Amino acid sequence: MGQPETSNIAFNAGILTVSDKGWRGERQDGSGSVIREVLSAMGATNISYDIVPDEREVIADKLMRWVDEGNIDIIFTTGGTGLSPRDVTPEATLDVIDRVAPGFPEAMRSFSFAKTPFAALSRAVAGMRGKCLIINLPGSPKAVRECLESIQCVLPHAVEILRGSGGDCAAVET
Ligand code: MTE
Repeated sequence: MGQPETSNIAFNAGILTVSDKGWRGERQDGSGSVIREVLSAMGATNISYDIVPDEREVIADKLMRWVDEGNIDIIFTTGGTGLSPRDVTPEATLDVIDRVAPGFPEAMRSFSFAKTPFAALSRAVAGMRGKCLIINLPGSPKAVRECLESIQCVLPHAVEILRGSGGDCAAVET
C-alpha cells in the first residue's frame, strides 16, 4: 500500500525513551535518535527528550508533566512495550490518557507484520491526554523506523485535528 502525500506542519514533540539499561548509561539510545531524525524531517520544531527506567509511575509522571506543563502536540515513547515483567510502558500510558486512539497501533502492527512476525510481541497503545497525542513505539531502532513509516503520513492531520484547526477531513487526500 502506498502512503499518501501530506504536507509538513510545524509541531512540538516529545521523545521519551523507556529503558533500564539506557537510563543507567549502559546502552546508547539509538531509537531516540531515529525518532528525532524522522520528526525533524517532518517539521517538528521543539523536541523535548528524556530517558526513564521501566517504572510505571516514573513513566506516567513524566508523560503527565510534559502534557500538563507544556504545549507538546505529540509524544512518542520508545521501549517497554513487550512481554517481559518490566515492560510497563502501555500500562503507564493508559494511566494518563483520557481517550484511546487504537488506529495508530493497529496501523503499526499491520505494516510491521509484513516485515516481521515479531511485531506481535509489541503491546503498544496510543491515545490523547487533552490535546496531546501519545504513541508507544517498540524499543529497537529498526522497529521504531518501521513503525514511524506506517503512521508518519497521518500525523500532520492528526495534529491539526487535535488543535481544532483541521476539521475538514473531506479535503484531505487519502
Ligand atoms: N515491530 C517492528 N516493526 N519491527 C520489529 O523488529 N520487534 C518486535 C516488536 N515490534 C519489532 C516490532 C519485538 S522483537 C519486540 S520484543 C516487541 O516489539 C517489543 O519491543 P520493546 O519491549 O522493546 O518495546
